[in-house]
Amino acid sequence: MTGTIKATAVIAAAGSGERLGAGGPKAFVPLAGRPMIEWSIEAMRAAASITEIVVASPPGHTHDLGGDDLAVVAGGDTRSESVARAMEEVDSELVVVHDAARPLVTSALVDAVLEDLAGEPDCGAVVAATPVSDTIKQIARGREVDSTLDRSALWAAQTPQAFRSSVLREALGSTGLLRQATDEAMLIERLGGMVLLHEAPADNIKVTTPLDLRLAEMLLAER
Ligand code: CTP
Ligand code: MG
Repeated sequence: MTGTIKATAVIAAAGSGERLGAGGPKAFVPLAGRPMIEWSIEAMRAAASITEIVVASPPGHTHDLGGDDLAVVAGGDTRSESVARAMEEVDSELVVVHDAARPLVTSALVDAVLEDLAGEPDCGAVVAATPVSDTIKQIARGREVDSTLDRSALWAAQTPQAFRSSVLREALGSTGLLRQATDEAMLIERLGGMVLLHEAPADNIKVTTPLDLRLAEMLLAER
């Protein structure tokens, strides 16, 4: 089936990387010998279903990336605003949104979320995710615990996330949540759309802190 799917990859890379504290945008921080974003670009190029790539880059870094198959736009103030700007360059029916902060993504995972979406006509999005292993407490005030959530029903959402472009555009345009959304699938959920999870490999980690960066270095060195 993968052979018939054609999609655009949108890479959200416009964040400043404050929690990493590397003194520059996270997407361009060196990781295992190349700027972090290049690992994601390479995975997209290797994915059978990806024909085009659009990167939302930090303003001021739009000329730091190149390639015939790559369009670069200046990102917005928040993640979903960056994705909305990138969507202006997308013509394909299907799109996969991915964070530059997840450099361990594989082409197999990208193809898999798109294949799942193509096989589920009623579904608005398919999201890479992993079961939560910690016990999660909901807090009320300060450090005071209100309740413990049922872990068997909790998954951590990641990227890649596959969408029908029309559904994603509608979601980006029609909710007042654009600035708060921490992923785009959330916007589809708010409109009542169906979102399915696809279990991701355990190593599809997000680089947020210096510890994550060290872990990503180790994992990429093993590949
Ligand atoms: N992102 C983006 N545009 C923004 C903010 C974030 O494209 N205005 C992207 C980031 O580049 C990253 C992804 O969204 O690939 C996930 O965000 P996060 O891990 O929070 O990255 P940063 O916002 O850069 O990090 P921090 O929150 O620590 O500043
Ligand atoms: Mg952020």
